[in-house]
Amino acid sequence: MTTRKQIRLNAFDMNCVGHIQHGMWRHPRDRSADYLNLDYWMNLARTLERGLFDGIFLADILGVYDVYRGGAETAIRDSVQIPVNDPLLLVPAMAAVTNHLGFGVTCNLTYEPPYTFARRMSTLDHLTRGRIGWNIVTGYLDSAARGMGGERLIAHDDRYDMADDYMEVVYRLWEGSWEDGAVLRDKQTGVYTDPAKLHVARYEGPYYKVNALHLSEPSPQRTPVLYQAGASDRGRKFAATHAECVFLAGQSVANLKLIVTDIRAQAKARGRDPRDILVFLLAAVVVGRTEREARDKLEDYRRHASIEGALAHYSASVGVDFGKYDIDEPIRYVKTDANNSHLEAITTRSTDIVWTKRRVMDEMILGGRVAPIVGTPAQIADAFEALMAATDIDGFNLSRTVMPECVEDFVELVIPELQARGIYKTEYAPGTLREKLYGWGKSRLGTGHPAAAVRNITPP
Ligand SMILES: Cc1cc2nc3c(=O)[nH]c(=O)nc-3n(C[C@H](O)[C@H](O)[C@H](O)COP(=O)(O)O)c2cc1C
Repeated sequence: MTTRKQIRLNAFDMNCVGHIQHGMWRHPRDRSADYLNLDYWMNLARTLERGLFDGIFLADILGVYDVYRGGAETAIRDSVQIPVNDPLLLVPAMAAVTNHLGFGVTCNLTYEPPYTFARRMSTLDHLTRGRIGWNIVTGYLDSAARGMGGERLIAHDDRYDMADDYMEVVYRLWEGSWEDGAVLRDKQTGVYTDPAKLHVARYEGPYYKVNALHLSEPSPQRTPVLYQAGASDRGRKFAATHAECVFLAGQSVANLKLIVTDIRAQAKARGRDPRDILVFLLAAVVVGRTEREARDKLEDYRRHASIEGALAHYSASVGVDFGKYDIDEPIRYVKTDANNSHLEAITTRSTDIVWTKRRVMDEMILGGRVAPIVGTPAQIADAFEALMAATDIDGFNLSRTVMPECVEDFVELVIPELQARGIYKTEYAPGTLREKLYGWGKSRLGTGHPAAAVRNITPP
């Protein structure tokens, strides 16, 4: 008997009011504006762990969405990822009330020196007992560059070059600086750490250099589980080199398949096991006990959607002001330094559909570019299985709608259906986040990954 492919699930969230489906905060039952209270996040973490979610994935953005209509007014009014707070600071509280839930946290490396960032991640890996992940991003907003004393975004491919270089530094700090067994904690001899087992991380690259000891003692996973979401040519190369989990969104089914196949093939060519790359697709779900209930819920939610907010988000994400487009004007490809693959998906890579602003807006059913999957638990499960079969993805990154009821509904209604089909776990695997994803004993990155190449191991 063949085992059916297991669905992996992350909840996709952000330390702000309006994340992906804009306007939902206006729904009378929505509690997103409680994001300032730790109780809100701790309750969410408990619900996700009850549903055996692999992780909560926390997005982040530096800068404001000020491309649409030439300013930030729409984003500010509709709370399109502003106000937004730091995602990392939520993790200890959520970790304290859970035992298994993973935390994939977005940190923009462009504005974080690797030496201090590496220590912050090690600290979180300790405090979560090996459940931390890092979504590697480089930003896509000029407004963030201005906040950091610059003028505009670094060019798209150059950001990836910088990111490659940054990884060389953090790998050396996490993996190469402290040998296993360096920490003795020996009260008899009075030696806490054996200096012979510590090594200065040394690296000098085109953008970053380091010549220092890592400050934290070895954490359970050392390198956090690495997430990445680039789908452009350069982004796929970066993913194939570094990523363990890849997030995709806004692509047609045919494109998704091409992207997944290409990333896995590139990973193999680099000596990695292509199955070590788990691909998650952004999805939103509206579920009801009956199809009628689900449709009614969708209509209720839909009344609160902000298409203007969605256009503000989308414009800044791809670097094109959709405020300047007529409603039926075909959208043209322009090379921008923002999220290029998202623009390619509706222009150069869309061979069968001519995308216009009207078509884009028609898709923004709940105020975002993620058209929801609507139906009964069985219909949701059917849609998930069909998408996985057609694209070879491993699971879904579930965008929130009305919070927290969308998560509670999913856990109550959809999870049991997935379990009944034998395509979703009925208990967590033991160990760190990496072990839960890849199997017992795989807490550290495997051979073939560049992090493994810089490890310091004293010969026995
Ligand atoms: C599901 C998903 C989540 C993302 N989350 C973030 C995020 O939280 N912060 C961020 O700066 N970029 C985020 N991005 C953008 C990516 O980091 C990347 O810039 C984008 O996918 C375009 O990369 P590309 O031009 O290589 O395709 C996300 C992308 C996707 C598809």
